[in-house]
Amino acid sequence: MCLFQVIRKAFTEEKHVSTKTSAADLVTETDRLVEDLIISELRKQFPSHKFISEEATAAGAKCELTASPTWIIDPIDGTCNFVHRFPNVAVSIGFAVHQELEFGVVHHCMEERLYMARRGHGAFCNTQRLYVSKETELSKALILTEIGSKRDPATLKLLLGNMEQLLLAKAHGVRVIGSSTLALCHLAAGAADAYYQFGLHCWDLAAATVIIREAGGIVMDTTGGPLNLMARRVVAAGTRKMATLVAQALQPINYGQDDQA
Ligand code: IPD
Repeated sequence: MCLFQVIRKAFTEEKHVSTKTSAADLVTETDRLVEDLIISELRKQFPSHKFISEEATAAGAKCELTASPTWIIDPIDGTCNFVHRFPNVAVSIGFAVHQELEFGVVHHCMEERLYMARRGHGAFCNTQRLYVSKETELSKALILTEIGSKRDPATLKLLLGNMEQLLLAKAHGVRVIGSSTLALCHLAAGAADAYYQFGLHCWDLAAATVIIREAGGIVMDTTGGPLNLMARRVVAAGTRKMATLVAQALQPINYGQDDQA
């Protein structure tokens, strides 16, 4: 049985669900199984390569991006969706060398859509070339975001305040689909104009960053500076103007850094 069949089969079955950093940060036995399958297969092919992955990090492994060739893996992005059988669930695998993202693949497990990109070679969904939206006005934008795992009142106030600012700027809509990686792929496909989030991880972002850039989009820090993959925050958009407008509307939410946890 291949990886995606493992996920699709488990999707409909009873799951053993545990929590990690908060009551909304979930993991199942399938997350761990899929991660082990991916890493053991890649390790056979590339014994000297390094790995950063969601469940190994949760179990205490170091999350450090060095110059070495490194695979950055989220075995199931959208674990909460997976637990509830809400069909936005993906496997995300990015690859970096010298801290530069080289390629990414994201598989939407329930819809047989494989998003992929290699630096300099364009972005694709199955065989279709992807292009971002060219929208520059916030008042015409469909914006995607995710809620993240913190639920304390101060974080929720900032989170909802950020959404409110974008709605007050008359954005057409703000959507939350429960998978950062898939939301970023929708942006790459031109199905939304911007994405922002505080609290995501490098494994949610790595593969989709290459896909968006190769579809012609911008992925940057919420401060407007270059993306820091470890900083747990991002703004992405089809145009720099849109990314800047979204970034300017946001109040920061501090989640710390993946490599300093
Ligand atoms: C999470 C999902 C969620 C987002 C979190 C991510 P996971 O990934 O993408 O929608 O809000 O920030 O970490 O835990 O399902 O792999």
